[in-house]
Amino acid sequence: MKRQEIKEILKSDAIGTTIKVSGWVRTKRESKNVNFINLNDGSTINNLQIVADVAVFSEELLRKVTTGAALTVTGELVESGGQQAVELIAKEIDVIGEADPDKYPLQPKRHSLEFLRENAHLRYRTNTFSAIARVRHSMIFAVHKFFTDKGFFNIHTPIITASDAEGAGEMFHVTTLDMANPPRNEDGSINYSEDFFGKQTNLTVSGQLEGELAALALSKIYTFGPTFRAENSNTSRHLAEFWMIEPEMAFYDLNDNMDLAEEFLKYLIKYALDNCAEDLKFLSDRQQQEEKDKPQDQRSMELLEKLKFVAVNDFVRLTYTEAINILKNSKPAKKGKFKYTVEGFGTDLQSEHERYLVEKHFKKPVILIDYPANIKAFYMKVNEDSKTVAAMDVLFPQIGEIIGGSQREERLDVLVEKMKAMDIPLKEMDWYLDTRRYGSVPHSGFGLGFERLITFVTGMGNIRDVIPFPRTPKNCEF
Ligand code: 4AD
Ligand code: MG
Repeated sequence: MKRQEIKEILKSDAIGTTIKVSGWVRTKRESKNVNFINLNDGSTINNLQIVADVAVFSEELLRKVTTGAALTVTGELVESGGQQAVELIAKEIDVIGEADPDKYPLQPKRHSLEFLRENAHLRYRTNTFSAIARVRHSMIFAVHKFFTDKGFFNIHTPIITASDAEGAGEMFHVTTLDMANPPRNEDGSINYSEDFFGKQTNLTVSGQLEGELAALALSKIYTFGPTFRAENSNTSRHLAEFWMIEPEMAFYDLNDNMDLAEEFLKYLIKYALDNCAEDLKFLSDRQQQEEKDKPQDQRSMELLEKLKFVAVNDFVRLTYTEAINILKNSKPAKKGKFKYTVEGFGTDLQSEHERYLVEKHFKKPVILIDYPANIKAFYMKVNEDSKTVAAMDVLFPQIGEIIGGSQREERLDVLVEKMKAMDIPLKEMDWYLDTRRYGSVPHSGFGLGFERLITFVTGMGNIRDVIPFPRTPKNCEF
């Protein structure tokens, strides 16, 4: 007989038929005459209840049915008197893989997220992490669908590169040299010409620069790849390895870019609401449980309500300079409550400032534009005031910056001057400058941090819980 998935069984109308399922035991409850086994196969957040009559199955077999064990069960699907609509009256139970209850780390109780992070290799077996995995999958699919439906082309940009797209120097080096005894130049520096690629290379921090090359031929492209940042940030919003979606569009100015970013985020959130309802309901209940311990005024909006709110309301758009004025005149600034002071034009906004604007002042997502040139990357278009650049950051409640983007500097002379001023090596970036030499056009793009999106959609408090194997400073397990 063919095995059926629990998701399909729970949807089906197969009462009275004999079916076969396989999965892992979540819990087992023993009563006098029967054992109730909750089986989950990962196809849905919901379990199938298996009813095993102690008169039918040996004590020895039922003893092996413990949390974490893998079973195949054949039986008759019947209407259930309990909480669930249907249950399976077992006729045959095969314990495929035992899970010694004295050793198996996951007990049938609520574990802390910290404990589960240490046991990340098993945490998919919990309701929370299997729900997150399914939502993550849906969001990956929705990203490709959104862009495909709009006529964008997906481009694979390199993972190993010789450039630093963001110019922030936060790169992981890639080398095959013997670090204990590297070849040296006369001045004592390492001779990278003897390295694998004949030059110094690193893991990419962004696919943007290569994405621009494609956009200036295909008009609308997007990348969706892993990016790596050796930034020593131990926060609930930073990973050293994360996934980024970077659309890049020829003939788009900053306004077109903002419109696309807002439409994209709303689409993804609506997609989750429409397609991940059961998992989101579970995650919402989970969050509500956690929130109970917090004081009333620090509790966040219920998850589904929050997602609907973002999906239907217009984002606020304002300039960096306007934001600085709001922040300077804000209550926390006047009372000295910000950890980082807002000095004025030129202050790099911290997450506490971004969250104040979104959560307290506007109570809506915000798009900030026109940042001071010197706190943003070299490739952003210089505005007419020559002090600011056509940058845009999309700020979300709980998350802070979820998207960073800009209109790009398409004028060769302006770009070259800027690169010189910012110490960007011109010779090595000659290939990039060719796009400005030949057929240069106004163009724009942005980067969405995929894990920041998933953090928002799932309502999880820590970005380390929305990627299967988080890499953070001093942590690279599995
Ligand atoms: O603002 P960032 O650095 O922008 C870029 O990399 C541009 N090249 C994007 C572009 O215009 N094509 O990063 C973009 C987004 C951030 O807004 C944030 O959501 C996410 O990437 N991000 C991180 N996510 C997790 N951990 C980190 N360490 C992150 N750094 C950035
Ligand atoms: Mg940024």
